Amino acid sequence: MMDFKKLIVFISIFTITLPTAEANSIRLNTRDLSLCLHIDEDGLLFLSYFGKKLKDTADYYNQVKTPIYLDYALKNEAYPAAGGRTFREPALQITHSDGDINTELVYKRSEYKYINENTEAVIVYLEDRKFPLEVKLYYKAFKQENVFTMSSEIINKEPKEIVLHNYYSFYLPVNANKYYLTQFYGSAAKEMSVEEHALTHGMKSIQSRKGVRTTHTENPSFLLSLNSPLEENSGEIIGGALAWSGNFKLNFELDEFNTLYLSAGINSYASEYHLLPDKSFYTPEMIFTYSVNGAGDISRNFHDWARKEGGLYNSHEIRPIVLNSWEGVYFSFDEEKLKKIIDGAAEIGVEMFVLDDGWFGNNFPRNNAKMGLGDWQVNKEKLPNGINGIADYTVSKGLKFGLWIEPEMVNPQSDLAKKHPDWIVKAEGRTVPLIRNQWLLDLCNPKVQDFIFQTFEQVLKLSDNISYIKWDANRHAQSIGSSWLPSNKQSHFWVEYIQGLYKVYERIRQKYPNIMIQACSSGGGRVDYGSLKYHNEFWASDNTDAYQRAFIQYGTNLIYPAIATGADVSNNPNRHTKRIIPFKFRVDMAMTGRMGFEMQPEDLDSSQRALAKEAVINYKKVRDIIQEGDLYRISSPYDKSGYYSIMYVTKDKKRAIFYAFCLDYNGIAITPTFKLNGLSDTKRYLIKELNSAKSILGANEKNIAGDSLIKEGININLRNSYESIVLYLESKD
Ligand code: GLA
Repeated sequence: MMDFKKLIVFISIFTITLPTAEANSIRLNTRDLSLCLHIDEDGLLFLSYFGKKLKDTADYYNQVKTPIYLDYALKNEAYPAAGGRTFREPALQITHSDGDINTELVYKRSEYKYINENTEAVIVYLEDRKFPLEVKLYYKAFKQENVFTMSSEIINKEPKEIVLHNYYSFYLPVNANKYYLTQFYGSAAKEMSVEEHALTHGMKSIQSRKGVRTTHTENPSFLLSLNSPLEENSGEIIGGALAWSGNFKLNFELDEFNTLYLSAGINSYASEYHLLPDKSFYTPEMIFTYSVNGAGDISRNFHDWARKEGGLYNSHEIRPIVLNSWEGVYFSFDEEKLKKIIDGAAEIGVEMFVLDDGWFGNNFPRNNAKMGLGDWQVNKEKLPNGINGIADYTVSKGLKFGLWIEPEMVNPQSDLAKKHPDWIVKAEGRTVPLIRNQWLLDLCNPKVQDFIFQTFEQVLKLSDNISYIKWDANRHAQSIGSSWLPSNKQSHFWVEYIQGLYKVYERIRQKYPNIMIQACSSGGGRVDYGSLKYHNEFWASDNTDAYQRAFIQYGTNLIYPAIATGADVSNNPNRHTKRIIPFKFRVDMAMTGRMGFEMQPEDLDSSQRALAKEAVINYKKVRDIIQEGDLYRISSPYDKSGYYSIMYVTKDKKRAIFYAFCLDYNGIAITPTFKLNGLSDTKRYLIKELNSAKSILGANEKNIAGDSLIKEGININLRNSYESIVLYLESKD
């Protein structure tokens, strides 16, 4: 939301207005796509085209000349409002200052803006036919990434307050014969599960009503496959992701004429918003893309956009290998124990040690999840030399140091809860429900925003050597109420909480641009592009079972990039699933994302330690391919083949890394062949197996034509459950 204010200031200073292509038509292009809007004789703005790039001379507005049965509101309005002829889910729904519940938006003018070499924008000004109610639609086109964004600004120029009911960011009518929706659902320890189904008539919604975290239930993103089910390398697909960390709603409304209307934005659930005269409401950005080449292209578009256009914080920086203390020691540690872990981490070659939960609270010591949250002072018993002691030690061993906080939360048993009961989210006169023994602080309140910002500052002051913060959020909102918001504006809670959170992040990022921050929320509860623009990475899941990680990371990386995907090696048996998995499989799986460890290194036997060291050396050599390259999925864990296989390829196609994981035993005689993707068919590649002392792969150390690897594939001796292989490919051509 802040983005747009900045964008407007920026473009009003630096932009050149480009000429409109045709009268009454607006077109934005990326490298391969076009999005066209048209204004009809009645002043209505509708979406005339979204898809493969049209030639400059194309008569893309021709369809509007075909007679249309207006009585049925058949026109594909670009941002329909409730009222007039609208009968579908409206993008905008308002009760005006005099009680009128109709809004009819008509086109006023538009501005094309050149932002930079890669980005163009258009702002379309709409106004209600009756009231001075203005809406600005912001479309941006990111050329190289083939990504568009859309959001809106609603400006109340009426004499009195108006009430916003629906205030979506995005609206897109789509025409196809059939529609297949891929969505992401999940809970803590089962994030980003993938589900696909054909859409039937009526409305399908994906949403959150949990307020402060998105992904535990459903993620605010989707893939929509047109005409046939989702394929990796073929088929028409639209992908979308909303940059919002609060309640969201994505709607897929298939009407009686077989047109699908997509709308997305902040969830209107219990969220009426009172907009005062002369005030604007900015909606969050929806990021969307399209391809005729299947899901692979869509993911690569999202990843490129996130890494190049600010969707992810400081995305140009290679991410360090982390060892986090949580699964190694939980709450039970002292300086000596931590030093041992740090020694072990240093020996393996880890670059960042992160001290997780349990380091704070004195009156209410944080020795379990029941107390201490909110009291961000070092626990003197566990750490008599303070954070500085342990941070200095970490740095002396050649690692960087990071620290866990959960600043939006408070335990009832804490100094903070006793001092500021008015800061707690609660409905007066009702029980305040606990989740994980904790309550939520009311981020609508500027004093709470200040407290959280100051907490961040104070924590950083505990040592000059803190370079990473893991920001956790282990509950969602329930039985909400804010003592800060007036009684007639309690419904602002859901929106103002997230706006408050973003304000805090803006302040933090201004003052601490170089601190790495991980977004954690009981694992991957806050994986969304609203949060990622402030975070360097996210913790994909508390579920570190490498088998289940195949599913979690496959789903996550359909939309979000590997560079941000925290993936750690943990102990056997897995704490959640009790599954026992060979060390190599666990290491190889962690290497598919931002590699890390979550254990006490002393638990490793000598051969595991040797492999850990080797894998860390290898990861350092190839991580630019994983973190900055293109992802190609070769075999999905969902396709029942029993294999999960992916690869990353550098943009110049000279280096690649290939992984295959056997998820299930397929019979005694089977060794799978994988057809590689993303390589150049005119180059030869030297293949080298990594993380394996004695490779038995036939292709190991051989120079093989890319053409053959793509067409014939590579046969791999991968037969037993939890066997895995990692190959490095390099071309000198
Ligand atoms: C959450 C996080 C974990 C860990 C614990 C600490 O569950 O997801 O990684 O930080 O909190 O309490």
